[in-house]
Amino acid sequence: MRIGVCPGSFDPITNGHLDIIQRSAYIYDKVIIGVAKNPTKKTLFSLDERMVMVNDSVGKLDEVETKSFTGLLVDFATDQQASVIIKGLRAVSDFEHEFQMAHLNKKLSSKIETVFLMASHDCMFLRSSAVKEIAMYGGSVNGLVSELVEKMLRDKLSGKSQLA
Ligand code: PNS
Repeated sequence: MRIGVCPGSFDPITNGHLDIIQRSAYIYDKVIIGVAKNPTKKTLFSLDERMVMVNDSVGKLDEVETKSFTGLLVDFATDQQASVIIKGLRAVSDFEHEFQMAHLNKKLSSKIETVFLMASHDCMFLRSSAVKEIAMYGGSVNGLVSELVEKMLRDKLSGKSQLA
């Protein structure tokens, strides 16, 4: 059984992430989404909120599970018996950072491969940070994220959020 891990902060999950996750689920027998706790990274949404949004977006995909993790990604992947880390690549600007991470992860665990999927055409310029910025300035993020994420962004930015 081929298990792949799709890691990320998912702050919040976008339709670009979903594109990569859905396509990964066609390729691998099982896909585990690793939502990073990442204490060094300041996130808009709490881990619980990010998990809720990811679960809502991937709930209908049978081969996909969502888990949170702290520590090294390769340790999480090993614990999950995954042989592959799956990443999405958008523009060339992603390459340098992802290239470094893939090599460092390979050095940390030679058994785990990193596989890259090209972002689909309409997700090429979609990133969580841009979604947050658009929402922060009152722009519409419709079509970029799920309805729940849209609502949670509105609530968070208007101070109505309960979970964080
Ligand atoms: O969505 P992001 O913020 O780009 O995801 C980054 C993530 C979670 C994939 C990365 O920060 C990560 O792998 N964190 C785990 C810690 C780790 O393994 N670091 C060494 C990688 S070289």
